[in-house]
Amino acid sequence: MKCSRKTMILLALMSIPIQYTAIKIVIDFYVHKCLFPNLLNCGLGQDVKSFDRMCDNCNSSRKTNILILATTRSGSSFVGQLFNQHSDVFYLFEPLYHVQTTLIPHLSPSRYAVERRVMLGASRDLLRSLYNCDLYFLESYIKPQPASHTTDKLFRRGASKALCSMPVCDAFSPSDGNIEEGDCVRKCASLNLTLATESCRERRHVAIKTVCIPEVNDLKALIEDPRLNLKVIQLVRDPRGILSSRIETFRDTYRLWRIWKDTGRKPYNLDLIQLTTVCDDFLNSVSTGLSRPPWLRGRYMLVRYEDLARNPLQKTKEVYEFLGLSMEKNVMDWIHNNTKGNNKSAANKYGTSRDSAANAESWRLNLSYEMVNYTQSVCKHILDKLGYKAVNSPEELKNMSLSLTEDKTFIHFM
Ligand SMILES: *[C@@H]1O[C@H](CO)[C@@H](O)[C@H](O)[C@H]1NC(C)=O
Ligand SMILES: *[C@@H]1O[C@H](CO)[C@@H](O)[C@H](O)[C@H]1NC(C)=O
Ligand SMILES: *[C@@H]1O[C@H](CO)[C@@H](O)[C@H](O)[C@H]1NC(C)=O
Ligand SMILES: *[C@@H]1O[C@H](CO)[C@@H](O)[C@H](O)[C@H]1NC(C)=O
Ligand SMILES: *[C@@H]1O[C@H](CO)[C@@H](O)[C@H](O)[C@H]1NC(C)=O
Ligand SMILES: *[C@@H]1O[C@H](CO)[C@@H](O)[C@H](O)[C@H]1NC(C)=O
Ligand SMILES: *[C@@H]1O[C@H](CO)[C@@H](O)[C@H](O)[C@H]1NC(C)=O
Repeated sequence: MKCSRKTMILLALMSIPIQYTAIKIVIDFYVHKCLFPNLLNCGLGQDVKSFDRMCDNCNSSRKTNILILATTRSGSSFVGQLFNQHSDVFYLFEPLYHVQTTLIPHLSPSRYAVERRVMLGASRDLLRSLYNCDLYFLESYIKPQPASHTTDKLFRRGASKALCSMPVCDAFSPSDGNIEEGDCVRKCASLNLTLATESCRERRHVAIKTVCIPEVNDLKALIEDPRLNLKVIQLVRDPRGILSSRIETFRDTYRLWRIWKDTGRKPYNLDLIQLTTVCDDFLNSVSTGLSRPPWLRGRYMLVRYEDLARNPLQKTKEVYEFLGLSMEKNVMDWIHNNTKGNNKSAANKYGTSRDSAANAESWRLNLSYEMVNYTQSVCKHILDKLGYKAVNSPEELKNMSLSLTEDKTFIHFM
């Protein structure tokens, strides 16, 4: 296969808007695509656009990369598992954690909104490398820096099935069933990134879950790169539920909110930034997604956690269909084991297994009406847009036979 001059020039021109990576793209293209065997059988040749068009005709062999765009306490571990359980998916749980701890070691909650933007360029670079199964790229962010491509410090390694099973780790056999995160960390030897790279290359898809990317617009450069074939699943949840869950989970950061919850009095110095950040990010991102810009055609799906919780199997099938992946028995079994309180034997180790439907709205019993009312006024636009009903009295809030999640279908832009 030839790599024409025209291709190179076109590619270089196209990559000008992509900060940080312009040069790398050209090199990647040359090294990975032009010299590699034509893994797609797509007659890659003319220019990037026709490459994309041609590949639309042979997508069965085309590798799809997946990004779960989420925020903390929105159910993202649960959604991550829906991919982690698939045998042809190489799943990573929040690799951008390492970018954050390197670039912003002293993350201050009140400056978070600004500081995480500092990470974006580096984050995109890392994502691009990981989708190409270049796991060595992570090494410059891991502390202490791995020696001989081996580390014990990969964040939540145990949350990735591929990193706990052959060939990366030989402590378990396939008949052991689901590997618990803690068991993986205890029993597997140090992570050999060379083996992890091999494991990644053996699988058709890479799925990455992150809460470090504010909105889908921040991924435009990656989404527009046809070689990545990236599809984004944006996970949203009722901000009132997110707030309630964070108050319980992040006790320091949400201290003032907890005081409000426990005493019934709103602290005068309550910091709104955490709440406005969630709602503004959702609003910006969802508005972009639903406005259907051409660059998102076939690449963006909006999923409400509540819908997933209400009907996990059906919703998961829709997600898989959108991605063009086949659903596997293993994924269905996992859903069976970890939702709706059936299969009592399944333990809840990941924070994902529970009576998911009942749990999705249980925040209503935890937050006072004043806190809910306040949140509703701060987040009004996004509540409306996502179909979450506001309540107008404490009675409405506590009456669990009224659902606050309206039936709403978001038609995917195909
Ligand atoms: C990691 O795995 C590779 C491939 O099997 C092997 O060549 C290398 O020696 C391993 N590294 C260590 C430190 O064991
Ligand atoms: C509700 O609050 C209790 C304790 O105050 C906590 O244990 C529980 O996890 C909370 N539930 C939710 C859904 O936030
Ligand atoms: C491409 O993938 C979609 C979704 O899986 C499928 O419906 C379609 O038939 C495929 N097209 C070709 C030409 O294989
Ligand atoms: C438990 O999960 C298995 C699959 O792992 C399924 O066959 C079985 O029906 C489930 N049991 C119940 C009670 O749902
Ligand atoms: C489902 O639960 C059964 C029984 O505990 C277990 O044997 C099986 O490995 C589980 N499957 C998945 C995919 O979690
Ligand atoms: C609810 O919020 C609105 C708008 O912020 C405010 O005017 C009203 O006083 C609040 N009601 C209660 C009961 O807190
Ligand atoms: C709760 O809502 C339902 C449905 O609107 C209503 O029929 C019922 O009377 C309400 N219960 C209370 C205690 O207000």
